[in-house]
Amino acid sequence: MSNESLTIAIDGPASSGKSTVAKRIAADLNLIYVDTGAMYRALTYKALKDHVNIKDEKALLELLENTIISFEKTEDGQRVFIDGKEVTEDIRQNNVTNTVSIVAAHARVRSELVKRQQKMAQNNGVVMDGRDIGTVVLPDSDLKIFLVASVKERAERRHKENKSKGIFSDLEQLKKDIAERDYKDSTRDTSPLKQADDAVRIDTTKLSIDEVVKTIENLISTKLK
Ligand code: DC
Repeated sequence: MSNESLTIAIDGPASSGKSTVAKRIAADLNLIYVDTGAMYRALTYKALKDHVNIKDEKALLELLENTIISFEKTEDGQRVFIDGKEVTEDIRQNNVTNTVSIVAAHARVRSELVKRQQKMAQNNGVVMDGRDIGTVVLPDSDLKIFLVASVKERAERRHKENKSKGIFSDLEQLKKDIAERDYKDSTRDTSPLKQADDAVRIDTTKLSIDEVVKTIENLISTKLK
């Protein structure tokens, strides 16, 4: 197996460190990074902007079918685009964060986005992060990781991140929001957040990003041997 064809699935709840770790691994191993959460967020953002009812699955699906969601790698990280317009920061705002799980619960929306995600991994080595990558999107991936961390730790991480981006943030509210999003993501009917049987579970509560990256890269080197 070579690096070019390697597929790595990283799943876990909100703010468990998935995207930071996935980005680092993708850069180190020269793989494409696919942030699937950004795709659900992009659709949510467009629906809110266009006044499409996010509870209406049919309307959302129609909107998605007429929407191009793309990524571009730049020097200051990966940028997200809807129909060619950059929305990287817009999709992280609270109005999107607090409503995206409603969008992500629609089965037909998921199946369209899963199709797009699978296409991105078709002829490429990828590190893909999300909730259902190891279970649904890339069930045959070479390595599956499931990252977890306590609610308190994850709220503190998001709080720091929000502050650094100039986004208003209330720590106690964040704890409630994260717990609620965990509940919604793991109890929905379609593809709930669930660890794949063959995934390696890593608790990142007391680990630095470097330590998590190192642990995963060691697992990858064992695979490549
Ligand atoms: O990782 P994130 O916070 O950017 O994800 C945004 C939302 O999308 C979150 O509520 C879970 C959902 N999601 C999903 O259901 N499946 C994925 N593969 C990725 C994200």
